[in-house]
This record gives sequence, C-alpha cells and structure tokens, in this order.
Amino acid sequence: MNYPHNSDERFRHLVSVGLELASIKDEDILLEKVLYTARYFLNADAGSIYIREKDRLFFRCAQNDTLRKKLPPGKKLIYTTFSIPIDDKSIAGYAALKGEVLNIKDVYKIEHLAPYRFNTDYDRVSEYRTKSVLTAPLMTSRGMVIGVIQIINAIGHEGEFVSFSDADEPFVRHLGNIAASAIERAQLIRSTILRMIKMAELRDPEETGAHVNRVGAYSSEIYETWGKNHNINEGEIERCKDALRLAAMLHDVGKISVPDTILKKPGRLTDEEFEKMKNHTIYGSGIFSDCQSELDRMSKDIARHHHERWDGKGYPDGLQGGEIPLTARIVSVADVYDALSSERSYKKPLSDEEALKIIADESGSHFDDEIVKIFLDIFDTIKSIKARYI
Ligand code: C2E
Ligand code: SIN
Ligand code: SIN
Ligand code: SIN
Ligand code: FE
Ligand code: FE
Repeated sequence: MNYPHNSDERFRHLVSVGLELASIKDEDILLEKVLYTARYFLNADAGSIYIREKDRLFFRCAQNDTLRKKLPPGKKLIYTTFSIPIDDKSIAGYAALKGEVLNIKDVYKIEHLAPYRFNTDYDRVSEYRTKSVLTAPLMTSRGMVIGVIQIINAIGHEGEFVSFSDADEPFVRHLGNIAASAIERAQLIRSTILRMIKMAELRDPEETGAHVNRVGAYSSEIYETWGKNHNINEGEIERCKDALRLAAMLHDVGKISVPDTILKKPGRLTDEEFEKMKNHTIYGSGIFSDCQSELDRMSKDIARHHHERWDGKGYPDGLQGGEIPLTARIVSVADVYDALSSERSYKKPLSDEEALKIIADESGSHFDDEIVKIFLDIFDTIKSIKARYI
C-alpha cells in the first residue's frame, strides 16, 4: 500500500478506476476490488464493506494487511459475517442513515456528544488496534445508500497508524459513488441469474439459490489458488475468477429439461430415470450455444462437462483427464462436495468428515487430484463460504 498523496492525481485516477470497476460482473469480486482500490489510494492498513439488505447492514468484505501478514503464505483472512441495524448507534450505521462521510481520528476517543460508539469487540477478537476510521456511504446516482465502506488506519511515514486527512473525505465519497453504481449493476446480474434459476422452478427456490451460490463461490476460490500455483498473471486470474463465479452458478440449469417426478423423487432413481437425468448436461450446454462472451463459453463448458470424470467414466462425453475443461474439473469437486454435505430429496446430509473422505477417496479416479488437493488446502475458506450461504 503506497500511493502519492497528491489530490489531483488521485482524482484523475478515479476515472480509470471507474472504468475498471465497470468491467467486473460479480458482486463479491467487485467488493474486494473496491476495497483494495480505496485502501491503495488512501494508504490504509485495513478496511471493510457493509452491504444493505432492507434495514440492516451486512458485513460482506474485509481486508487487513497486518492480520494477513501473520498468516501462512497463501492463506486468507477468515471472518464471520454479521449485521448491524441502520441507526446512529454505530459508525457504519450512522454513515448509512445520514448519507455522510465520517472521518474519525481515533475510535477510542470519540467525543461524548456523538451518538455512535465504536464496538471494541472486533479489536478484542482479532487482536488488532483500530485507530483512525474513514467511513463513506455507497450512494447511487439516485441517492440510494446501498452500503458503507470503511477504511481503517492510515499508515504514516514510519509505518505508524495516523489519521486520515480532510482531503481524503471528498475522495472517498466519490469512490463510494462510483462503486455504488458498479455494485448495483453486479447485484442485478446475480439476481437475474438467480431469478432464471427460480423461474425454471428447479427445486425449492431457497435451497437452489444457496446451492448455486455456494458452488459458484467455492469454484472461484479453487480457481484463484490454481491460477496462483500456475503463475497465471493477476489480471487473467481476476477475469477468469469473475466469470467462473457466475458460470458455475449455472452448472445445472439444464435440469429444467428433467421432469419433476424424476428431479424431486424422494428415493433412488431407476437406471432409466438416471439416463434422463444425465441429459441435463446436454440440454444445459445447448442454452449457451450462441457463445457470445467468455462468460457464455465458460457456462457452456461447465454445464456440459461438470459430470465428466478424470478416469473417463463420466458423462455425457466420457472425456478424460486434461480433455475436461479446467473450469468443469473445478466445478465437479465443488458441486459434489456441496451435494454430499447438503440435504437432498433423496438423501440426508453427510458430515464434513464423511464428505471429505469420499472426495479424497475419489481423487485421481472421479476428480483431478490437483483440484482435490487445492480444495483440501483451502478448506477453511470453503467452510467460511458455507457459513455465509445457508
Ligand atoms: P446433485 O444432487 O446436485 O448431485 C451432484 C453429484 O454429487 C452427483 O452426480 C454425485 O456425483 C454426487 N453425489 C450426490 N449425492 C451423493 C451421495 O450420496 N454419494 C456419492 N458418492 N455421491 C453423491 P450424479 O450422480 O451424476 O447425479 C446428478 C444429479 O442426478 C444429482 O445432482 C441429482 O439431482 C440426481 N440424482 C442422482 N442420484 C439420485 C437419486 O438416487 N435420486 C434422485 N431423486 N436424484 C438423484
Ligand atoms: C461501525 O460502527 O462502523 C461498525 C461497528 C462498530 O465498529 O461499532
Ligand atoms: C441447481 O443446481 O440448479 C439446483 C439443483 C441442485 O440442487 O443441484
Ligand atoms: C478459462 O479461461 O476458462 C480458465 C482457464 C482454462 O480453462 O484453462
Ligand atoms: Fe449436474
Ligand atoms: Fe448441482
């Protein structure tokens, strides 16, 4: 984190930041990028983003260089999600309620007249010392507050934590506005995909939404680690991860072609029924046959090939090993883990221990062993995603 504190230059840079944010389609990836960008420009150690749902703010994204540096290389910060009401009692709540930027020099010395207090629980739990906090509403062009961004602990010349300057305030407000438009658009893309899945009435809509979100999030995390292990450049990783987050959600759209009596059957399928079930891969890939964009191409690969097996005994094409597109090999592990650990009309959920044993046993036969290894390596992150989408 180091950026020249030259106001004009920073504002000029905001234009290109806006364009860059507009090219990201997935909401989670966008939030990470927004937060990173804000911290970079403001030379800050940490930060977080809250997203509004109805009258609450949900903690959705967190970065902290100090805490990250204490982790083994390649490990990510694990945080629990929680929500706070939009009222004037918390700093984030106040910024959302009033639509104002708050520049607090030291959260442990908030003046007594202020209605809000800093919740010291976060520092206690994470063994971190929050000092300065710059908070801005994420406000759309229609004046709607869709969330809050908090930038924490500006870094001084000696690496010490200092306060944010007054000049940082209009900057973070502008960034909040630009980010809000991009986030609104990303939310629309994801909710359109979820609506498509719901319209098809694949299953109980709630379970379906959570399942596809989990499979999407697991897959993009696995890909990110795969990309780093293979020295793929950062831009390519980011683009591919973004598309995969969404494309993986659509892996089973072809199930709209499967009759309800089969799809929702409480017991085991007969051979004949299973043959019909297998067609969901072929039907699903047909939906993306136009292949306009990278997202279409990836969605098609995944829909068609997510039930192929590494040993060539899968369906529909019996592809083997590296013939199977990487993205489909990744979704295969993510999908089966999620199917194993979730309740289905035909089965009870397995414990993590049982599910991981099956995945490990089938490494190299059903699954690409490299992908299984990555999945097990990042299982902490997988579990935190699972806790987020229940
Ligand atoms: P799904 O429920 O999303 O499961 C995806 C994949 O997870 C399955 O692909 C399978 O590889 C794995 N999986 C799910 N449950 C188990 C399990 O209990 N043990 C093991 N070892 N693996 C499991 P598969 O088999 O190609 O099935 C594709 C889809 O067909 C399933 O998607 C589900 O919708 C349906 N299906 C499969 N078997 C049955 C069944 O016995 N009854 C019903 N009603 N549907 C089934
Ligand atoms: C906030 O107030 O902005 C977040 C919650 C807290 O720190 O009290
Ligand atoms: C879906 O993935 O589209 C829902 C069906 C399932 O639970 O696999
Ligand atoms: C992609 O761009 O589809 C991921 C990289 C690969 O499939 O090799
Ligand atoms: Fe499937
Ligand atoms: Fe599935």
